Amino acid sequence: MAHIRIRNTEQRLESEQEVRAFLQEQGVLYEHWNPEKLPENLRDYYTLTEEEKAEILQVYDEEIRSLAQRNGYEKWDIVALSDATPNLDELLKKFENVHIHTEDEVRAITAGNGIFTIKGGDEIGYFDVELSAGDVISVPVNTPHFFTLMENRKVVAVRLFIDPAGWVAHPYEDPTFKKTS
Ligand SMILES: [Fe+2]
Repeated sequence: MAHIRIRNTEQRLESEQEVRAFLQEQGVLYEHWNPEKLPENLRDYYTLTEEEKAEILQVYDEEIRSLAQRNGYEKWDIVALSDATPNLDELLKKFENVHIHTEDEVRAITAGNGIFTIKGGDEIGYFDVELSAGDVISVPVNTPHFFTLMENRKVVAVRLFIDPAGWVAHPYEDPTFKKTS
């Protein structure tokens, strides 16, 4: 279940009801897929073969197609990051800059954890959404954000796109953003 941390106030939201209400208010799509649908050997496993990636997509085919149909996503794939990923530190450094995209950034976490830091309304500022297996989030088009891993440094996620070519990071210069978490 996702947890929220509002950076300006250090407020944390941890109940499902509060998290859902907050994200809805901020225009961020959130849903939850049953992590137990995944076979046990894929639940905490990060060095996936192409066959294993295809198996995860198959397990969640119904959920993926439902979300895709509702929001116009056309393509999906699996991304896996862990200390086994070459250049993980460099990748994370690149990720950790505030940016926007010309389409939604959609991630369904199937193993591990991740954090999306998102710019909310003026009265909220930046907030962190801490995600675990089953959490599905769509950062809306043109919303400043960045992604990073949690302390365990591992994640597997389904990514959905309207067009993967649209998933280009455009840097967003924001003097109000303080990098220190
Ligand atoms: Fe992004």
